[in-house]
Amino acid sequence: MTQQIQPAKELSGTISLPPDKSISHRSVILNSLAEGTASIKNYSTASDCQATIMCLRELGIQIEYEVETPIGKGNPSNNLSLVSPGQRGLIEPTSILDAQNSGTTMRLLMGLLASTGFFSVITGDGSLRSRPMSRIAAPLSLMGASIMGRNHNSLAPLGIHGGSLSGIDYNMPVASAQVKSALIIASLFANGETILHQPALSRDHTERMLTSMGASITEDKLDILVQPTESLKPVDVTIPGDISSGAFWMVAATAHPNARLRLDNVVMNPGRTGILEVLEAMGAKITRNNTRVTGGEPICDLVVESAELSGVEIGGDLIPRTIDEIPIIALAACFAKGKTTIKDASELRVKESDRISTTVEELSRLGADIEELPDGISINGTGFLSGGECKSHGDHRLAMTLAIAGLLAKGPVSISEPEAVSVSYPNFWDDLKSITSL
Ligand code: S3P
Repeated sequence: MTQQIQPAKELSGTISLPPDKSISHRSVILNSLAEGTASIKNYSTASDCQATIMCLRELGIQIEYEVETPIGKGNPSNNLSLVSPGQRGLIEPTSILDAQNSGTTMRLLMGLLASTGFFSVITGDGSLRSRPMSRIAAPLSLMGASIMGRNHNSLAPLGIHGGSLSGIDYNMPVASAQVKSALIIASLFANGETILHQPALSRDHTERMLTSMGASITEDKLDILVQPTESLKPVDVTIPGDISSGAFWMVAATAHPNARLRLDNVVMNPGRTGILEVLEAMGAKITRNNTRVTGGEPICDLVVESAELSGVEIGGDLIPRTIDEIPIIALAACFAKGKTTIKDASELRVKESDRISTTVEELSRLGADIEELPDGISINGTGFLSGGECKSHGDHRLAMTLAIAGLLAKGPVSISEPEAVSVSYPNFWDDLKSITSL
């Protein structure tokens, strides 16, 4: 399949963003650890989040869909009712768990599976089977789990024999919310406390939600101290809108000469707001309205308007806080005056695709002056893309970046494998239409 995007004369309207993917995953995984019933509103319909539900059902969690948002009323979402026997009542799965394309599903579930007394096998699609899992398997093994996999236990499929874990004092080599979350989950059911030393701040949705469920998790700058728990209580969650999905519209509105977009219900977790800091440093006009806190997460509505952009240098601690937004930032940089350099971002090489090389390859095809660095990307802003033919490499964030390039370029952009967007944003093409044809 191919999707063709025409240059837009104007961009305007309001987008009620799809439910946050990271918080959706956590709402069902963490509630599975607590005995009782939880009600989850506005759960993501993205295929990654559906994969998590299917894996949890294999472990004995009952998850029922209550209402789905009617088509045509903004982004689709599900209301769920989840019933769990608690972590100690989970059952050994009789088949292989399939995380599909979802790194968050596989990595957080590795922490959960390591904490149980049974055997399980988890796998995923071709992309996920090539992504590094030793960053989770190694510390879980130090805690006492037995984890076997391909390539010296670093690649899925992974077989996990859990149980009898001990707390550890661990220096995390990568600033990763997925690694930290898996280790926090396992630590709750270990003997003795666990201390995690993070190299930099990343999203802390797991810490926030588990604390509201009664877990003892304390933070001291970049260190996290987790005490084992006797029992957790279920928590009802309403999922806010996904800032990583919003990033595509932010860049569209900022880089287009005739645009004004409102984005409602955006999660403003400090581990996620790097995109706003980067765009504002480039000169973007972004207004935050109606700032509030829901379910322990800061939220607001944003208005983004056309602006003159300048190049920036991005690196260091900002990278984990913008990690999913680098491809769309690279696109913004094509429309900025001067040079943009993104460094310290070699983690991008192990995302759904090697996002350093795929972003450079595909934006080059559209006429960008862009270059691959070992740990990042360098872009000379020309204020202009010509358009052309490109491919998503099956990577949802690249597909959406190329679609926004199509709105901003001089000529049409056709994208092969555009269906990848449904990994995080199934309604993306409808939302794109809604802001271009008002
Ligand atoms: C996520 C964490 C990030 C991010 C991913 C979602 C999460 O991965 O790239 O899309 O929900 O915890 P890392 O923590 O491995 O950087």
